[in-house]
Parts: sequence; C-alpha cells; structure tokens
Amino acid sequence: MVGEVSMKRSATLRLYEDAKGLIPGATQLFSKRQEMFAPEQWPPYFSEAKGCTVTDVDGNRYIDMGMAGIGATVLGYADPDVTAAVVDRAQRGTMCMLNPAEEVELAKLMLKLHPWAAMARFARSGGEAMAIAVRIARARTGRDRVAFCGYHGWHDWYLAANLPTDRSADTTDRLGDWHLIPGLQPAGIPRGLAGSALPFHYNKIDELHAIVREYGHQLAAIVMEPTRHHAPAPGFLESVRELADASGARLVFDEISVGWKLACGGAHLKFHVAPDLAVFSKSTANGYPMAAVIGTADTMQAAQDTFISSALWSEAIGPAAALASIQKMMRIDVPAHIARIGQAVQDGLREIAQRHAVPWTPVGYPALQAYQFQHPEAAPLQTLWTVRMLDQGFLSVAGFFPMLSHHDCHVEPYLAACDRVFAELATAIRNQDIVQRIGGPVRHSGFNRLT
Ligand SMILES: Cc1ncc(COP(=O)(O)O)c(C=O)c1O
Repeated sequence: MVGEVSMKRSATLRLYEDAKGLIPGATQLFSKRQEMFAPEQWPPYFSEAKGCTVTDVDGNRYIDMGMAGIGATVLGYADPDVTAAVVDRAQRGTMCMLNPAEEVELAKLMLKLHPWAAMARFARSGGEAMAIAVRIARARTGRDRVAFCGYHGWHDWYLAANLPTDRSADTTDRLGDWHLIPGLQPAGIPRGLAGSALPFHYNKIDELHAIVREYGHQLAAIVMEPTRHHAPAPGFLESVRELADASGARLVFDEISVGWKLACGGAHLKFHVAPDLAVFSKSTANGYPMAAVIGTADTMQAAQDTFISSALWSEAIGPAAALASIQKMMRIDVPAHIARIGQAVQDGLREIAQRHAVPWTPVGYPALQAYQFQHPEAAPLQTLWTVRMLDQGFLSVAGFFPMLSHHDCHVEPYLAACDRVFAELATAIRNQDIVQRIGGPVRHSGFNRLT
C-alpha cells in the first residue's frame, strides 16, 4: 500500500541538514536538491527503489510519478534483468588488469542500432562523455569554437558560454535570458575560453546561420539534442546538417536524456538525420554508470590523436548493465509503452486542470513531459502540488518521465489524488493564500536550457 507508513520524515530531513554542512550543495546532482521540489519537506534520501516504488529512509513508501531518476531509468528501478546481469558480473569480478569483453559486444550492439556510426568509446557519465565528444571534434578539425543549444553538463567547454565577452550584452539580448542559472558566475572556468561556446536556440536556424557566417571556419562542432521538448521544425535538422557540412564542423547529437525514449537507440533515428558523433548515458544502462560516444570512423579516429583515458572506464559493471538494458529494449517496445502511459497521465491532468480551472499546461513529448502553471505564483502552486502529493504517497514534481514499470494501476490512483489536490489549488488561487498553505518555503527554479 502506498502511504501505509505515517509520513514521519525526521531521519531523511536530519540527514539533509547534516549533508549541507558536509557536502557543498548537499547533493551531487543539482536536480536532486530538496530545494528543487519542496524545501524542508521533500524526502531527499531513499533506502529502496523498485519498479516505480520508492521507500525513503524513514520507511515511507511512495509511487514515483516524477522524472525516473532524472531520466536514467527508463526500464524502472532495480529492473530484474539488469540487476541479474550486474549481480552475475559482480560475482565474477568487475576490475582487474584486463579489459571487460562486454565492451566489445556493446560497441557492436550500439553500431548495429546506429548504422551510420563505425566506432565507439565508453565512459561512465553524461557530462564527461560530452566533453569527450567535443575533444574528438576539436582534435579532428583543429578548431576551437563550438556552437550549441541545450544543456550538456558541467565541463569547462560548456560553461565557457557564461564567460563575459565583448559580445555578451549582444548575446544576452539575442537569447533573451542567461544560460543555465540566471546570474551564474562561471567561477573556475579559464577566462581564455571566453567566446569559445556560442549558444543558439533550438529550431532557430537563423541564429545558427549567424554563428556560421561569423565563425564557420573556426567551428569545431555543432552540439545539440536532436529534440527535447519540441519536434524539429520541418527541415531544421537537415539545415543544421548542411551547415555542419558546409563549415566543416562536426555535428554532435546529445542523446543522454532523450535517447531510448522516442526510439530504440537515439531519438535522431526517428528524424533520419545522422550526426558525426552521438552521445549516450543515463538510461543506456538503466541508471548504472555508463556512457557511450559513437561516431563515424573519420571523426572517431581523432580520439587517437589526443589523450582520452580513465581507469574506471575499464570496469565491467557498466557494460554488463548496458548490454542487459539494451537487449531488453530490443525485445520490448519501451518507447510505445512510455508514450502510452505518458499520454494517459497528460490527458488526465489536462482534464483535471480544466475542470478545476487551474491554469496549467504540459510541455513536451508524453515520454519526457514538463509542467507549467500560467500564473504569477507558478512556483508556489507547483510546491503546494508536490507537498500535498507527498502526503498522499506520491513523488510528484514539475514533470513526468514514464518508465516500463509504470502501469495503469499507478496512473489511476495518481490522477485521483491529483484531482483532490487540484481542487485545493483552485481554492488557494481564489483565496490568494497559496504560499500560506505550503507549510515551508517555495521551491527554487531550475536552470535554463535554451532549448
Ligand atoms: C541532454 C543532457 N546532456 C548532458 C547531461 C549531463 O549528464 P550527466 O548529469 O550524466 O553528467 C544531461 C543531464 O541531465 C542532459 O540531460
């Protein structure tokens, strides 16, 4: 039963207070900070996660209708097939002086799914794999600048976009907002990188044209997700491909979050536009540390002209988990399942919001949906929704990434609970007492992706 344990959250909240003094920022992932959901109320720590049920360290059980381990677990938590492969590998040893045979099998599988690619390298997390892709593109072209849109991690090549340049005022004007966190000072990023990362908006081909006109001969790469919230406008990806070819830049598709969710493999397979490099992580191994950079032979060979190497990239758990995950995704139509569950949740919530006259809309594909309140107190409304859903035994945040482990038996009680909570949201809007009802501070905002 969901919510069968009384909602005492003292252990999890105490742990978070301790963490703030021990771990700068309290967590390792910005998007898992309690402040992103409901400060002083969201339970930051789990003891068990199975299927789509999460138990916090106080013993409270929740149905997780959130973002699937921030997009990392499309099969569901502790998927039995992946767990069996990992346990088997762990029992036989995961690290020694030799390499895991699984990585060769994994390379063959990734290349079979992406026939445009000829070679693969492996790492263990998304941001580092993006840094590898950018390094390879720079090594191959002998150029420095990178045009990009969207979020790609924490590395210097990318945060360089926030370094002030002579053109900063211009760029901020053109893009209408700050990149990542408004006002974020890119402390620790070498100032010499200023002007090396040039942002453009998704589906705004004119912005990329302008970058290519000015810097085309210096451009090493065009880096972007093939899609995120919106489908590509007709001809957009094809034009990006043409601009890359015309300028000699390498086209890098970031499939870290969208990969496996719209197609078995990269989302770009749906759009029939091939990049020079594509980068995978997160759900590739259903949440086990694993990342892949795949690419054409011509581009990937440049990895030999530079130094890209790390001890823990040669352990065996990541490849074993990736093989089990991918083999399962080749057997079962996961994109169809998560699209159906996501659509059911989106349709249900839309109907509930309309019935209660709450100004709410979903954004994005049903498989990666995000939520917005069109109201001056959007953040308080989202916080109140999250807080009330915790009390009803659901992890519910500003978006939903369905997993293979979600079924109608989870969607129905979730929508019933949302119906009750949206009735209160409507009352709170009418009475203008949204903030007073929360019982704690309002959630903080996330970061800008410029998509
Ligand atoms: C599109 C995209 N690229 C890169 C990253 C960074 O991956 P990681 O958090 O594994 O470093 C993320 C993570 O959210 C992402 O969504």
